[in-house]
Amino acid sequence: MPSVEDYIRTIPDFPHEGIMFRDVTTLFADPRGFRMAVDQMVHPYAGRRIDKVVGLEARGFILGGAIAHQLSVGFVPIRKAGKLPGKVIAQDYVLEYGEATVELHDDAITAGENILVVDDLLATGGTAEAGIKLIERLGGEIVGCAFVIDLPDLGGRARLESMGIEIEALCS
Ligand code: PRP
Ligand code: ADE
Repeated sequence: MPSVEDYIRTIPDFPHEGIMFRDVTTLFADPRGFRMAVDQMVHPYAGRRIDKVVGLEARGFILGGAIAHQLSVGFVPIRKAGKLPGKVIAQDYVLEYGEATVELHDDAITAGENILVVDDLLATGGTAEAGIKLIERLGGEIVGCAFVIDLPDLGGRARLESMGIEIEALCS
């Protein structure tokens, strides 16, 4: 039986020379692969109180929406700067290849809510850390961060775990 890893394709030199891009569109496009990934990402949180799933743009929206639906909770997007229409809070961060700012609607999370953060891939952890900071600024409690792929050599897991954040990833 294939594993989640078998559905992920690697594209060398995208978006820049030297980056081995782990492409999850092939996982999302396969009905067995997509269901397997969502089921396995939900599994560690069965029986735990989750009030909302927060997805990180862009592939975290696809996974996060499906996971929120499965957990019967709401979904909240963290978006790149300038995309959300309401009043936002913003956080700058550094990526494996570039810099960016992410934003969260300032009324999207209520203090004390238990939040599960979802994205496709953990590399340096800069994106997830920026998302966590935004959620915590609104008083959200991070239950954990769930990814399909962890690239441990880039240090994201160690960085988030040093902040006391629980990490789950389906493959590395
Ligand atoms: C990718 C990936 C994560 C992030 C991980 O997104 O989907 O969100 O990089 O990298 P990090 O752990 O070093 O922060 P990307 O920034 O390429 O944005 P996109 O999903 O909008 O294409
Ligand atoms: N985001 C950061 N590094 C990445 C990689 N190697 N593949 C896919 N997305 C990424």
